[in-house]
Amino acid sequence: MDAIVALCKRRGFIFQSSEIYGGYNGFFDFGPLGVELKKNIKDAWWKDMVHRRADIEGLDSSIIMSPKIWVASGHVGGFSDPMVDCKVSKMRYRADQLFFAPVRVNYETIGYISIIEDGSMQADAEAAAEKMKRKGGHQGELGPIELKDYTEADPSEYELIPSPATGEPGSLTPPREFNLMFETKVGALSDSSETAYLRPETAQGIFSNYRNIVDTGRVKIPFGIAQIGKAFRNEITPKNFIFRSREFEQMEIEYFISPEADWETIHQDWITHCHKWLLSIGLPEEMLGRDVHEKLAHYARACTDITFEFPFGKQELWGIAARSNFDLTQHAEHSGKTMEIFDEATKTKYIPHVIEPSLGVDRLLLALLTAAYTEDEVGGEKRSLMKFHPRIAPYKVAVLPLLKNKPELVERAKGIYDKLQLRYNTFWDASGAIGRRYRRMDEIGTPWCVTIDFDTIEKDGTVTLRDRDTTEQKRVTEEELYALLDASLH
Ligand code: GAP
Repeated sequence: MDAIVALCKRRGFIFQSSEIYGGYNGFFDFGPLGVELKKNIKDAWWKDMVHRRADIEGLDSSIIMSPKIWVASGHVGGFSDPMVDCKVSKMRYRADQLFFAPVRVNYETIGYISIIEDGSMQADAEAAAEKMKRKGGHQGELGPIELKDYTEADPSEYELIPSPATGEPGSLTPPREFNLMFETKVGALSDSSETAYLRPETAQGIFSNYRNIVDTGRVKIPFGIAQIGKAFRNEITPKNFIFRSREFEQMEIEYFISPEADWETIHQDWITHCHKWLLSIGLPEEMLGRDVHEKLAHYARACTDITFEFPFGKQELWGIAARSNFDLTQHAEHSGKTMEIFDEATKTKYIPHVIEPSLGVDRLLLALLTAAYTEDEVGGEKRSLMKFHPRIAPYKVAVLPLLKNKPELVERAKGIYDKLQLRYNTFWDASGAIGRRYRRMDEIGTPWCVTIDFDTIEKDGTVTLRDRDTTEQKRVTEEELYALLDASLH
């Protein structure tokens, strides 16, 4: 993770927000390479989920919407996480990410340990328990360490669980619910009647426009509405770089189906489809997994996360939920407008049910960075490279004249660069040893370098095409170059 964060900063992918003022926790800025990466992710998703499907339409709704929407959706009442404060250190934790366990020796409790959730917490907790036993001079057998999160603690345990900040018990508060929506004021008056919210998900923009799209489009059940856009959550503990931030982007689809449809099969089909899409843009099968939710929200019929092996452990990447007709029914009740659709096929009217694949752009970007980051050796020298899929890579190709001080090479290279640039994001690099220029491109994940040398201008016009991953070089014509680039971008 440290190597990825360092590379992101060094090569201009991602910066901390407000860095010149010491940073701003939970917010990030995307530099010249990061913005390309992000745009490529969104474009690939939009192309595959909207343009290449006849049954999905796009939407771009406003970030700030009537607060009534968030009352109807249940976010005002219940979009919260349990938090716990340490009264001594003033640190704040998400209670469901703060784990604890009693430490027992010969069945007798000698104290409690606490630990913040991460991939190695069980091993770390066992080491901490061993240390407690040793320090206290206890003899006998250490019992198994059974970690529970703080929301599962009995009130009598609050006083006994140590704060992760101080290591001492007695300073943690009971868990309290904390609403994650950011509030703002709309209009000149600043009384509470003007309170509005920055949307915590793009989904409600889809539900609140469902009627408009049904009335103005030519949609037929089953159909989907897709949206990409910013979402904001006042996360209690933003962490792991851009994995959980307070401002992020979502790519969401609400896929409307008949209440009579076999929703379980459609849900499974969406999970498979999303999984395959992740493979198609370069995530390796062995880093993906599934997490089928056992605890469900009251409106959900099923929810499966596609997970990814991040450097800090296996975590949710893409949530795919079967949400019944909860949202549309709520909006029908609160707005007084009908959400029923007439189904031509069955000649019946109903409020459709929905399958919701919901993916975070930033989280996917982090997964792609993690999967792409590679260290190897070329000619006895260490190199780090990003093995991005060509669709995702910020630059698709770099054009390098072999020598900077040979005008005929530079001119020919410039001509090729000008043509390539019309079709692909192309990098121009004329300075430095050719090997070093290749390394620079490897580090930012440019799949191909095109070198213009004396054979290009004196012989057959072919150029050297160098492959990032294998470092193999071959001579190709300009036509072959275009064909290869075009084929790789689908
Ligand atoms: N409309 C459903 C919904 O918003 P969610 O599981 O809360 O569901 C969906 O979020 C996806 O959005 C997650 O799977 C994740 O990829 C992304 N996401 C959620 N909170 C995030 C955060 N604080 N930072 C970055 N991405 C986040």
